[in-house]
Amino acid sequence: MAPILSGKRIILGISGGIAAYKSVTLASRFTQANALVDVIMTHSAAKFVAPVTFQSITQRSVATDTFEFWHDAGRLRIGHVALAHAADLFIIAPATAHTIARLALGLSDDLLSITALSYKGPMLLAPAMETNMWTHPATMHNVQTLRDWGVDFIGPAEGRLASGEVGEGRVAEPEEIFEVACKVIGRGGPLDGLRVLITAGGTREPIDPVRFMGNHSTGKMGAALARAARDLGAETVLVHAPLAVHPPGGVTLVPVHTAHQMYGAVMERLPKTDVLIGAAAVADYRPTDSADRKLKKSPKQQIITLERTPDILQTVGERREETRRHPRLVIGFAAETNDLEANAVDKLTKKNLDLIVLNDVTAPDSGFAVDTNRVTLFERDGSREAWPLMSKDEVAQAIMQRVVARLGRRNWKRPRQPSQVDEP
Ligand code: PMT
Repeated sequence: MAPILSGKRIILGISGGIAAYKSVTLASRFTQANALVDVIMTHSAAKFVAPVTFQSITQRSVATDTFEFWHDAGRLRIGHVALAHAADLFIIAPATAHTIARLALGLSDDLLSITALSYKGPMLLAPAMETNMWTHPATMHNVQTLRDWGVDFIGPAEGRLASGEVGEGRVAEPEEIFEVACKVIGRGGPLDGLRVLITAGGTREPIDPVRFMGNHSTGKMGAALARAARDLGAETVLVHAPLAVHPPGGVTLVPVHTAHQMYGAVMERLPKTDVLIGAAAVADYRPTDSADRKLKKSPKQQIITLERTPDILQTVGERREETRRHPRLVIGFAAETNDLEANAVDKLTKKNLDLIVLNDVTAPDSGFAVDTNRVTLFERDGSREAWPLMSKDEVAQAIMQRVVARLGRRNWKRPRQPSQVDEP
């Protein structure tokens, strides 16, 4: 769920291309997120998908005609003006070359373009067209003009096009558009201007070219945190080991495999990080020697010698004094099977964290791989708070509210940047 969209008014403009059918899924996603979706279709879009399809999905009228009046709060209003003034976000998906050109020229010769011209808020376009049309200097120029005005774009992607050819011009997938829409609408939120780095997933330590030591982390918890930070306006980086879930859109993704790589990726970005959250399950040990060829079966016992990997959060914690308490907030997770509270508090202190989130990974509905989590929060002042079972998205949103309470826009000033953070 994306609470950022709940109650928001979204205009979903649909211009004429075969990709119009994908916007049915998009309209459905927004509607399920409790947004009010007003669909405007061009006449050619209505040849690809019938307006009644969108009407059924959104449970709202679909507009195609400039000369329509709308009943709103008992008053008769001019359709395009009423829609444009009420909307929180304007999306056009698919946006054809022609529609993009009309927007860039400020034309207003149909309901979609006239509403766009009357609208002042955030706008997101998902172009879809044949490759030569997309790369044509006229289209590139129009896209740049719109970008300069602050319009956001997603895609187009490479892939099979309506012509049967393969190239750049395919509309972004509905889920990607949905995710980027959350980011666009979240701009200016309480974490706007803050840089949040989250680690996610289980690191993989190679034994040989085909085997590794790993753990059960899927990255669900970390991905949920990244979405929650993004939706509150934070500039979000997700440093992730291989994920078993779709990575969130609208965040900077930094893929890694091993604990060493994750350490390097975090340390490199540390001077530009205000909030660090370690949700990754990082290997504490790795094979001392990773074989460069696949190990063969043998009747003899195989012994793998292990060596310690760097502890990312501990290193950050140790350096916080010399980096003028930068990041300003460091939050860890504790995945425990026994002596839960004692172990969590021990990690909070040893790693010099501000907050640790304990999850009991032996509970079937909590911890690794499941969609829910039951967590207890421990703070430096000795306070503790047990939360009920929630979805990982809800846990992530509640943790982000903690971040807002500590560092939200009214409460923070960016500290002086440390000049650099040394390698160990
Ligand atoms: O990914 P999911 O399937 O959704 O599962 C979520 C989760 C169970 C992995 C997540 O909720 C969680 O608990 N993550 C932390 C798991 C863990 O490794 O905990 P730990 O107790 O071993 O480590 C304590 C903290 O130190 C963690 O924030 C960890 O990221 C960090 N750490 C650990 C070792 C290391 N070498 N470097 C670290 O930074």
